Amino acid sequence: MGHTVIFQPSGRRGTVEDGVNLLEAARQLGVDIESPCGGARVCGKCKVRVEEGDFEKFGIISKASNLSALMEEEREELEKGEVEKNYRLACCTSVQGDVLIFVPEESRGAQQVILETGRERDISVDPIVKNYYIEMVPATLDDQTDDFMRMKGVLAEKYDLHNVDYIDYFVTVNLPETIRAADWKVTVSIWDDKEIVKVSPGLVEDPWGVAIDVGSTTVAGYLCNLRTGESTVKKSMMNPQITYGEDVLSRITYSMMNDDGLEKMSSAMIEGINNLIKGMAEEAGLSVEDIVDLTLVGNTAMHHLLLNIDPKYVGRAPFAPAFKCSVDFKARDLGIKMNKASYVHWLPIEAGFVGADNVAVLIAEEPYNQDGMMLVIDIGTNGEIVFGNREKLFSTSCATGPALEGAQIRFGMRAAPGAIEWVKIDPETKEPKFKIIGEEDWFKEGDEPLAKGICGSGIIDVIAEMFKAGVIDKTGRFNKKLDTPRIRHGEDGKMEYILSYARETSIGKDITVTQGDVRAIQLAKSALYCGAEYLMEKRGVSKPDQIVLAGAFGSYINKESAMVMGMVPNCNLDNVNAVGNAAGDGAKLALVSKAKRAEAQKMALDVEFIETATEPDFQERFANAMAFPHRKHEFPSIQHILDKIPQK
Ligand code: FES
Repeated sequence: MGHTVIFQPSGRRGTVEDGVNLLEAARQLGVDIESPCGGARVCGKCKVRVEEGDFEKFGIISKASNLSALMEEEREELEKGEVEKNYRLACCTSVQGDVLIFVPEESRGAQQVILETGRERDISVDPIVKNYYIEMVPATLDDQTDDFMRMKGVLAEKYDLHNVDYIDYFVTVNLPETIRAADWKVTVSIWDDKEIVKVSPGLVEDPWGVAIDVGSTTVAGYLCNLRTGESTVKKSMMNPQITYGEDVLSRITYSMMNDDGLEKMSSAMIEGINNLIKGMAEEAGLSVEDIVDLTLVGNTAMHHLLLNIDPKYVGRAPFAPAFKCSVDFKARDLGIKMNKASYVHWLPIEAGFVGADNVAVLIAEEPYNQDGMMLVIDIGTNGEIVFGNREKLFSTSCATGPALEGAQIRFGMRAAPGAIEWVKIDPETKEPKFKIIGEEDWFKEGDEPLAKGICGSGIIDVIAEMFKAGVIDKTGRFNKKLDTPRIRHGEDGKMEYILSYARETSIGKDITVTQGDVRAIQLAKSALYCGAEYLMEKRGVSKPDQIVLAGAFGSYINKESAMVMGMVPNCNLDNVNAVGNAAGDGAKLALVSKAKRAEAQKMALDVEFIETATEPDFQERFANAMAFPHRKHEFPSIQHILDKIPQK
């Protein structure tokens, strides 16, 4: 039996089966509802409201009783008075009759703002797929050599290629026709000097490839000319799997709880990648068939979820992946639409939780070529840290949680329009200044009220600024003695700081930073700090010579705020750099350089992974690192800032 469900304000409507929950119904109808926990009923972000009445225009009578009974989890997550107003959590509520559902502004998924920065790097271009133009002597009755052998002969003679022993089936299908129609003059695209993956008529100078960084939140693609190494088109999109859970663990859970969950997520990703490739090819005036190589990087869970490999063992101890080595699969086997005979190359994985994205960061930043000690922090839902120099590198992975990306924060949101991204607080008056994504200037009285929440960089800024202004102390507790209307007791009885008044927001509510938010950030930053501390100790040094903050999120970070809150160890601020999407850069490098692929394979094996969370004194160190910037360690490079913090 089916029921009509209408979502407003998008107006999407459709019929869903009896018993389907509202989150799934929204997915089916193409409505994006925030669901950071992937429907595990713990985040409370999928709040919707059922509208009651006879909606003649839509031909339905919508009733709250057409939904399943209120669950205990909903009572816990919904705010006072919301139950009476027919608010529900979409993932807890199943459809039992016709309903009209209103999705409030703060529950709507927003389009991610994409960072496409990256550094240009010098590299010697030597891709795995190269084009070779050949002219053959036509077959005659006296010379009946087959077409493949004839091509091989010229390739050996003209280009000294003696090992081209394979030709893909799909190339053979049209081979006789292509060669003859082109008057025996063709361009042969060869993979690894061994296998013919494309034969094109006439001269085709440039082979084209695509590099893709499959992030949990953002997927960034780069179209590159494999002859020149130049990246000509960049495009990004939100990871389409995000509707199934914002972090990798919720997606793994989704795949375990739903029979077709893994397949759905894998197909969503492949479809997204196909659109990305098509979009870039079109922009460059190419067809997808012109793309003859593809490199992919991503964390281990993304790797499994894209390749349709059951990820459950990646999510539980001892976190062993299906395979760690780099692999080359035929694009067609994965359903990726590009030149049919071409390969897709996944860079190697380092360890269970340290994926090919981190290997890509390594080959981009090359800490293994440095004399000085380099600390590379790839910030994401899972923080990945590498430390060392040319002699030895250690890596670890820290469960930072999604707080640094805006999830599990009362008014946290993704880096999308309407998110507060930068914050300053006047140390005297405690009044804040903030800037919203999508707006050029800092917000001022009288501007359109667009603030909707706070994204990761805004959270790091606001917490560091609250500490610098004396709103919170070293331990993260609020200073109750301050005389300012910006600090109050929240509904839960705990203190909170009002960053933006309701009149300045588009959600009609004060945007606040709660004691719980401060704690969540303390936990995340402490995890990163401890990870770095263990690795430095393991390497026998007390401080890094330079720090690299990587990640799509990394280049937005205010490095001073990061150090003031003690997310990174002390280091000369001039030697702290946010490098943007280094994983994407690594994927590009592997696309245009065989040597970089070999380097990736070597580094994935050479870097020693250290499990830090099981160290006996982890709890003690973690507790010390919870303080701002740290309970015991000194930060001489920012002491001048710390000295100005008002004392209670
Ligand atoms: S509580 Fe519904 S998606 Fe998290």
